Parts: sequence; structure tokens; C-alpha cells
Amino acid sequence: MRILVTGGTGQLGRPVVERLRAAGEEVRVLSRQAGPDVVPGDLRTGRGIDSAVAGVDVVVHCATDFFGRETDFARTLVEAARWAGGPHLVYVSIVGVDRVPLGYYRAKLETEEFLAASGLPYTIQRATQFHALVRTLFAGAARLPVVPVPRVSFQPVDVRDVAGRLVDLALGDPAGRVPDFGGPEILAAAELAQAVVEASGRRRRIVPVSVPGEAFRAYTGGGHLAPDHLDGKITFAQYLAEQPDAGVLRCRKRHSAGT
Ligand SMILES: NC(=O)c1ccc[n+]([C@@H]2O[C@H](COP(=O)([O-])OP(=O)(O)OC[C@H]3O[C@@H](n4cnc5c(N)ncnc54)[C@H](OP(=O)(O)O)[C@@H]3O)[C@@H](O)[C@H]2O)c1
Repeated sequence: MRILVTGGTGQLGRPVVERLRAAGEEVRVLSRQAGPDVVPGDLRTGRGIDSAVAGVDVVVHCATDFFGRETDFARTLVEAARWAGGPHLVYVSIVGVDRVPLGYYRAKLETEEFLAASGLPYTIQRATQFHALVRTLFAGAARLPVVPVPRVSFQPVDVRDVAGRLVDLALGDPAGRVPDFGGPEILAAAELAQAVVEASGRRRRIVPVSVPGEAFRAYTGGGHLAPDHLDGKITFAQYLAEQPDAGVLRCRKRHSAGT
């Protein structure tokens, strides 16, 4: 099959591309940056999108825009896909886009609805928060002497696990919205923050705090979780153990302690 991966240079797109190539598929990677292994194109302006989509059987749409253009990206893609004879569109969304009132989530939900109404063959996979995002949430706070963390839980998932699912979907028939894909464990933010602090070789006091606001109420109620879908295999602890910069922080600490 000929497959276009938008966002194929991003954290999820990279393992999707690797896995598709390992499966022997012909893969095009869309990027705004010129490069030896990419098809140049910009979903914001439409530059290069028609030729990127021409002749493909499937588009795995991992490109994203955090600043309100998520649905415009999909519009550009769908327009090009119609001209190209209607390839299967596989879109990755987020668990709880219909429950957590955040602007980015609303844009993802609108994009899901737009794709479902487009008349093109499509599959939508929602996933829980990626390990890297959860780590970033707590890495900054871990520099403070006392780490305040919200009283919520997360179900972090590894992009390699999500990529494996997306590849199965891309190689299968269009399936509409499929069951959510979640990480292997649901852990309190305090436990996750503790793991991030420990991975950096520090010791900190973690203090759970309540956060006001509608979005946090939705998080507290588990709107972003998929407890019936503990699908991923790679745990947050395994992911942290693989992170080279966690090791660097540990070394720096040993160095500053004169050991
Ligand atoms: N992060 C999470 O916790 C999480 C959880 C569940 C689902 N998701 C979803 O997973 C998807 C991938 O997320 P990610 O974290 O892998 O994203 P990412 O690492 O931030 O990558 C974003 C990608 O979008 C591409 N892109 C941005 N603007 C573009 C434009 N104008 N035209 C063409 N390409 C453009 C970038 O390509 P170039 O820079 O090379 O152009 C890049 O490859 C998103 O839809 C996200 O909502 C994320």
C-alpha cells in the first residue's frame, strides 16, 4: 500500500512511519521542512498537499495544530483526498475530547465530526496522554523544593504502543470511530510526579492540591481516562528509565555532590 503520514516527523508520527516501513509499506512523510525523506507540504496554506495525497491508499493524519487550526488542517486534507479518489483517512484524537472543556479538545472533537461527515472512508482512534506530555507536566515542577500536583490521575501511554495500533488500523478497512486506546496503568499525579523526580535523581516533597475550574473538574472525574482500555504495554516507569536526560540529571547531581 501507498501511505501518507502527516505529522510523520512528530513524536507519534515517527514510530508510525518506522512500523509501516518495517511492514513493507511504501510511506510518504509530509513535513513543512524540506528533507531527504519527506514530501514537502503545509496543511495551513495547502502548499504541496494535492501532490502529497495523490495516488495514496491511506492517509494517517498525525499532524496537529495547538492554535485553533486543527479542523482547517482536516479540511485541506479532505479536499485533496476527494481529488485523489478518496483514500482511507486515519485520524488520531484524544480520549475525553467530548468531556473535557479545553479549546484544543473542542477542536479535536470538531475535526472528528467533520471527518465523519466528509463522506470519505475514515477511522478515528482516540488515545490517552502520551508519556512525554505527562513527564513534561511534572519535570518543571520537579525543580521546585516542594512540588504541587493536582489531585487527578492520568493513564499515560507510549507513542510506540499507539503507533502499533494505528498501523493495524491503517492496514485494515475503514472502521469509523474505534474503541479508545489507553495506557497500561492509571496512576495518581502524585505517583507520576514522584517517578519523574526520582528519575532526575532528586528528592522532593510532593503536595497534592485541588485546582479550581471546569476543565480540572472534568479531569478529576476521569473524563480523560479509558479504564476499560488498559491497552498499552510500555509503562511510565519503563519510559522514564529509557530517557537519557533523566540520566544526565542524575549524573549532574552526583557531580555537584562531589561523588
Ligand atoms: N501528546 C499527547 O499526549 C496526545 C495524546 C493523544 C493524542 N494525541 C494526538 O496525537 C497527534 C500527534 O501528536 P504529537 O504529540 O506526535 O505531535 P507533535 O510531536 O507536536 O508533531 C506535530 C506534527 O504536526 C506537523 N505539522 C504541524 N503543523 C503543520 C502544518 N502546517 N502542515 C503540515 N504538518 C504540520 C509537524 O510536522 P513538521 O514540523 O515536520 O512540519 C509535526 O510532525 C495529535 O493529533 C495529537 O492531538 C496526542
